[in-house]
Order: sequence, then C-alpha cells, then structure tokens
Amino acid sequence: MAVLPPGYSIRRIEPRDYEEVVETLKVLTVVGDVTRAKFEETVEFWNNSTVKAGNAEIRAYNPHVIVNAEGRVVATGTVLIERKIIRNCGLVGHVEDIAVAKDQQGKQLGLLLIQYLTRLAHEAGCYKVILDCDEKNVGFYEKCGYRRCGVEMDHRL
Ligand code: ACO
Repeated sequence: MAVLPPGYSIRRIEPRDYEEVVETLKVLTVVGDVTRAKFEETVEFWNNSTVKAGNAEIRAYNPHVIVNAEGRVVATGTVLIERKIIRNCGLVGHVEDIAVAKDQQGKQLGLLLIQYLTRLAHEAGCYKVILDCDEKNVGFYEKCGYRRCGVEMDHRL
C-alpha cells in the first residue's frame, strides 16, 4: 500500500496556490495566460458549485493538490461529480487534469492522488469513475486500478 512521503499531504486547491498549480499543470498541457484574478475566480466558482447526492448537497468540483514538506505544490488533479438521469439519477466521477511536477514523478504521488480522488467520488456515491488519457498513460492508470473501456473522441474549434 503506497503512502505519502514524510511531510507530504493532500488538500483542496486554495486561491494561494495560483503560481504553483499553474506551474505544475505545464507538464500536462498548455495552460495559457491565466492571471491570478482568473485563477481565484475559478477556485471560488469550484467552491460554490454543488451537486445533490442523496439527501446531501456536496461539492461538484473537487480540485486537489499534494504539497511537499516545505509546503510547495508538487501534484494536482480533480474529480468532478456529475449527476445524471440514468441509473436512477446516478452520480459519475470524472477524473481530470492530473499532473505531477517533473522532479517529483516516480514517487507514487500520481497513484496516491488517483486513489484519493477515486475514493472521494465513490464515498460521494458515484457508481463509476471515468477518465480520458493518452495511450502512453494506460499502464499508469491500470496500476491505479482502472481498466481500458470505450474510445475517447473529441470535437474542437
Ligand atoms: N506508463 C506505465 N506505467 C507508469 C507510467 C506510464 N506512463 N507512469 C507511471 N507508471 C507506473 C510507475 O512505474 C508505478 O509503478 P510501480 O508501482 O510498479 O512502481 C505506478 O505507475 C505509479 O506511478 P507514480 O509514481 O504514482 O507516477 P507519477 O507520480 O510519476 O505520476 C503521471 C504519473 C501522472 C502520469 C505523471 O507522470 C505526469 O504528471 N505526467 C505528465 C502529465 C500527464 O500525462 N497526466 C495525465 C493526464 S490524463 C488525465 O488527466 C485524466
């Protein structure tokens, strides 16, 4: 069973994480010109967006970071909880935007983050948790307990 290195911890993203989250996400894709104000507005939106889960009102967006012993953000990822009509108005978790800082990869931080977000979604009542990834990451997600399922497609402007 993987455990975080000494001094590391997982928590929700906070507005003060602006610079480190933006930097960490650069290993994943183009982040673009995201200002501090836009970042903070987005975090506030995430914090205020809820979804009904049974009798409870829970947060739909669950963006998290792993911070190291010095308090630096070294990994980030989200699970979004979607309420549907099918499956008796069931809940589905969508794992998104997983990134581990280059100098921190290979320490099982990605695995721990996925396990944490997956557990969060199932404890919220999701009947499944899904994600899209590149072929090169299939082995990583299989180690996290996911299995290949379906085909990813997109439509872009
Ligand atoms: N292919 C196969 N196995 C892998 C891969 C891979 N690409 N990456 C890691 N593994 C294995 C490791 O060897 C380890 O196996 P072990 O337990 O037998 O030693 C296990 O998976 C866990 O690896 P971690 O150390 O937890 O991986 P890491 O912390 O480096 O995170 C990640 C992996 C998230 C893919 C990281 O390399 C990264 O940030 N990459 C760039 C961004 C990216 O591609 N993110 C995923 C996008 S998909 C999405 O967001 C839904």
